[in-house]
Amino acid sequence: MLVVIKKDYDEVSKEAARVVAELVYEKPNSVLGLATGGTPLALYQELIRMHKEDGLDFSKVTTFNLDEYINLPPSHPQSYHYFMRENLFKHINLNPRFIHIPSGMVDVNDINRINRYCEWYEEQMEKAGGIDLQILGIGANGHIGFNEPGSSLGSRTRIKTLTDSTKEDNARFFHGDLSQIPQYAITMGIGTIMEAHWILLLASGKNKANAIKDTVEGPVCARVPASILQMHRKAIIIVDEDAASMLSIEYEALTPDLL
Ligand code: GLP
Repeated sequence: MLVVIKKDYDEVSKEAARVVAELVYEKPNSVLGLATGGTPLALYQELIRMHKEDGLDFSKVTTFNLDEYINLPPSHPQSYHYFMRENLFKHINLNPRFIHIPSGMVDVNDINRINRYCEWYEEQMEKAGGIDLQILGIGANGHIGFNEPGSSLGSRTRIKTLTDSTKEDNARFFHGDLSQIPQYAITMGIGTIMEAHWILLLASGKNKANAIKDTVEGPVCARVPASILQMHRKAIIIVDEDAASMLSIEYEALTPDLL
């Protein structure tokens, strides 16, 4: 795992975009794992800029999103389908056939069907040749995707119950109304994420400092799902100075070339 510290959110996002673009230029049919939340927004804006101004071509790229809330239709402004369409997909030239986001429109009472659906989602990743680069944010409690603390470090795509702390963190997207936040989500598992060839985790702001300290310098444990990235040979953690403020060791200022 490599830790890179940048001055602020803007620099984190530009550095992340540089890494993604480098991969797409080198391998035009890359398979990207995508994340939602506030953190990757400026990365997506930079990729859109690179597409429009520099001709960065996504036409052969395949994407798989990490997660989706259960029971929010794709038209719901807080669904991750909606988020991805508005903040990235509609602005670049991805082939819609190559876009994958877990469906949240499943019946939570039909667990067998959900399990079959999750297996199908994993099969699609396998058929695409596996994920080349997985982008991740991190929850204040150390979650990645919706793999909440206590998730098995070997877990695969499945249904998860959201913790109260995640619901509180995400309440800002639901007008602060906790009752509007779905209770469940479908998420790639930690084992699934760990199979990506490269992983790029981004974090910004003081509210992530504790999670970043635990992820980077704490023990590898299910209590901090992101800490498993210490075991990944090609994981890059790009954080701003605020998110890095509780780290005690000195880290890099430069991301090495990926390829
Ligand atoms: C959600 C998403 C995660 C994301 C996290 C942090 O829980 N499922 O993928 O990393 O929020 O979001 P933010 O970047 O808004 O802090």
